[in-house]
Amino acid sequence: GAAVVTDIAGVETGQMITLKYRGKPIFVVKRTEEMVANLAEVASRLADPNSDASVQPENCKNDTRSVQPEILVVEGVCTHLGCAPLFRPEVGAADLGGSDWFGGFFCPCHGSKYDLAGRVYSGQPAPANLPVPIYKIEGSILTVGE
Ligand code: FES
Repeated sequence: GAAVVTDIAGVETGQMITLKYRGKPIFVVKRTEEMVANLAEVASRLADPNSDASVQPENCKNDTRSVQPEILVVEGVCTHLGCAPLFRPEVGAADLGGSDWFGGFFCPCHGSKYDLAGRVYSGQPAPANLPVPIYKIEGSILTVGE
């Protein structure tokens, strides 16, 4: 099939790499413990905190939208009009709301903000969370697709 296989052992904690799968960018973030903890902090400010109206495989329908809490895998495609959001992990970034910003993704096209699980904040142009593709992790080997 079209599966993409990548060894993510070299990805540093707190960093993101971008893969390509079926022509789309796939963002892979090794989340720190703080990043995982902050997902609960921001939940009340999200449009779809439980991802009921968003796309993800069954095994990622959980609080971290992931197979393993520390590894996020999402499509880097804004659900508004398809731009690639920017990875903005800095807590407290002045241009993204200062103390209201706990790190996430920012779409430069029309300003949609997402958290570090790809969940969109309320009141953004984007209507849904970033989609999570089907993937599996075996040791340090990430396989996106089937
Ligand atoms: Fe991302 Fe419009 S395409 S906010």
